[in-house]
Amino acid sequence: MLDAVLRRGQTLDAAAAAVRTLPAADRALAVAIAGETLRRLPDLDALIDGVTRQRLPDDAKARTVIRLALAQKIGLGTPDHALVATALPLVDGGPRRLVHGVLGTLLRRGLPALDNPRLPDEVEQRWGAAWDEGVVAAARHQIAVRPPLDLTFADAAEASAYAATHGGTSLAPRHVRLASTAVTELEGFGDGRWWVQDLAASLPARLIPSGAGAVLDLCAAPGGKTMQLAADGHRVTSLDASKSRLERLRENLARTHLAATLVRADALEWQPSQSVAAILLDAPCSATGTFRRHPEVLYRARGAIIADNAALQCQLLERASGWLEPGGTLVYSVCSLEPEEGERVITDFVAGNPDFAIEAPKLGELPDFVTSSPEGWVRILPGTLAEQGGLDGFFIARLVRRG
Ligand SMILES: C[S@@+](CC[C@H](N)C(=O)[O-])C[C@H]1O[C@@H](n2cnc3c(N)ncnc32)[C@H](O)[C@@H]1O
Repeated sequence: MLDAVLRRGQTLDAAAAAVRTLPAADRALAVAIAGETLRRLPDLDALIDGVTRQRLPDDAKARTVIRLALAQKIGLGTPDHALVATALPLVDGGPRRLVHGVLGTLLRRGLPALDNPRLPDEVEQRWGAAWDEGVVAAARHQIAVRPPLDLTFADAAEASAYAATHGGTSLAPRHVRLASTAVTELEGFGDGRWWVQDLAASLPARLIPSGAGAVLDLCAAPGGKTMQLAADGHRVTSLDASKSRLERLRENLARTHLAATLVRADALEWQPSQSVAAILLDAPCSATGTFRRHPEVLYRARGAIIADNAALQCQLLERASGWLEPGGTLVYSVCSLEPEEGERVITDFVAGNPDFAIEAPKLGELPDFVTSSPEGWVRILPGTLAEQGGLDGFFIARLVRRG
């Protein structure tokens, strides 16, 4: 899995195909070990490099096996004897003595807690240049901990009742935050009263005006925002290019007993039969804002990938904006912490399209802890709501077409 992520640029979810034949508990453990390793990789490597005479190549099997063992100790609290007993058979007939020696030395010295691990160098530099001091520090802190579980409910009263009976917290209407747990075991999953959605990811749909009626949800799958819009009473058309993701959207709607018209199409080729009042464009992006749940995004999102995404986002926005009726609303969002995919896309768009204006959130539309920038957009950075478990990084802007 680590090789698939680090060398082939796969997501951890996709890489987990490698362990799909394992029993469920082993599979979950394997994915957890890989995740914990990715949360602290630069520091784990520094520990290893501190006790080896010759630097082990990045992809050396010995390095991988030691990384896995250290990540289990630091991230999962696995006892030393279990680490050693599971690490050594992985290098049978290979660098067993080396692994035993390095691991033994590090365990004897005692391992640091690494609860503020370093991010990959490229990310430290990029975010350090883009954001205020403190953002990288907050991100370091966040990557070390598995985040809480956020649920969005179809019904506001049910959310409050659920929070009260399950020891959860509600930080916004229809929202409940729980300590992380196995989702399908939670009461209510089967009967579809709620879906899993980071609180930050629930903000864009909250900016679609309540009276919009018909809403076009572009790039809609797997459907978190479609379900919000449908639960709000909008007539939703949900478009996505991916067949498999659209299938998940269909299943999610069936589970939650919500309705939307589904369209499988490339938004760069498709077009609606008439102009529309409201569009939500939750554009494909580097997803670096989701690093708490998907630490591998920090290794996948290189400069070129960010630039490619930004180019696609600009194209999607130009095209979608042309479908909006005068006075109509378009909400643009990305779960990215890169200004190129957020602030820059919107700044360039507004500069080139004087018939569009940014409309800041109105009082009561978003929860109180969300503030908008002087320009009127919303930027969620690491550190937001830190005491309550944090949020994914997001950028959201609402554009209105002048009448
Ligand atoms: C950020 S995800 C959407 C998440 C979704 N809005 C939600 O709330 O669950 C971006 C989606 O864009 C879709 N996509 C990417 N390029 C597209 C295109 N050219 N046309 C339509 N959909 C596209 C991807 O398949 C992916 O499902």
